[in-house]
Amino acid sequence: KSVTAFAPATCANIAVGFDILGFAIDSVGDFVTLTKREDQKIIIEQIEGINNLPYDILKNTASVVIKKLCDDLQLNTGFNIRLKKGIALGSGMGGSSASSVAALVALNQFLLNPLTLNELAYYALFGEEIACGQRHADNIVPCLFGGMQLILSSNPIENILLPAPNIFCVLIHPHLRLDTKDARDILSKEISLKQHIQQSANLAGFITGIYKKDSNLLKKYTQDIIIEPQRAKLVPGFYKVKDVALQSGAIVASFSGSGPSLFALSDTKNNAEIIADKMQQEFMKYNIHSDFWITGL
Ligand code: HSE
Repeated sequence: KSVTAFAPATCANIAVGFDILGFAIDSVGDFVTLTKREDQKIIIEQIEGINNLPYDILKNTASVVIKKLCDDLQLNTGFNIRLKKGIALGSGMGGSSASSVAALVALNQFLLNPLTLNELAYYALFGEEIACGQRHADNIVPCLFGGMQLILSSNPIENILLPAPNIFCVLIHPHLRLDTKDARDILSKEISLKQHIQQSANLAGFITGIYKKDSNLLKKYTQDIIIEPQRAKLVPGFYKVKDVALQSGAIVASFSGSGPSLFALSDTKNNAEIIADKMQQEFMKYNIHSDFWITGL
């Protein structure tokens, strides 16, 4: 028996909520197919869509989380794994989470007593640890629960589904690779009191804007004054691409997760298309090709 599950890309941080905010982008993602084996082996049979992902089951997030769950539940069965990656490696679109989540959702179908989403999230975080050394939950939670999520705690998982803002998201992926671990390693471990106050006010403004469906509040307060300035240098043309998005009417534009992808939010689909086009043209000035997706949130 085989089961296939899909898990979406995610845009973590949403600029102002480092490690605690994220939303799902359902138009792109990863597929995992699990086929039950008679023995207890876990084998990666096939990886499509990406060339350089490890077949070593201790290094691939899909197999790591399956092994962990099979071991913990002492299942007397094994699985062949087929992974179809729609999300590029090191893209900032939550690729490692999507593989873990799709694998766990597929595995859950084989269990007599399926796990809850919170329990699956606990296991998916082991994949994040393998991928970047840390169990941040801002990709896993929106990937698994859907929508726009606020993560209040990652151990244990405690999250709040935020109201759908009825806005459009442009997610643009420049063809560069930036590993989350590297993009985290460069971050300063300390911030000033002044920065803390400003970022807290911005986060409060963002959350209020989401609940009030007030795009003026979002425009004014969805600013990341701490992480984005430190990561901007990692992506050629970052500020130029961000600026053209804002000049073209975006409510906000920033890194998706740890980059190099960017997201931009817009009130209308038509405007989102214009923004995407301008951002793509700007990246081309740096000889960087890109793909984009437009999704209603
Ligand atoms: N919050 C994480 C980071 C997301 O920015 O490092 C990584 O996808």
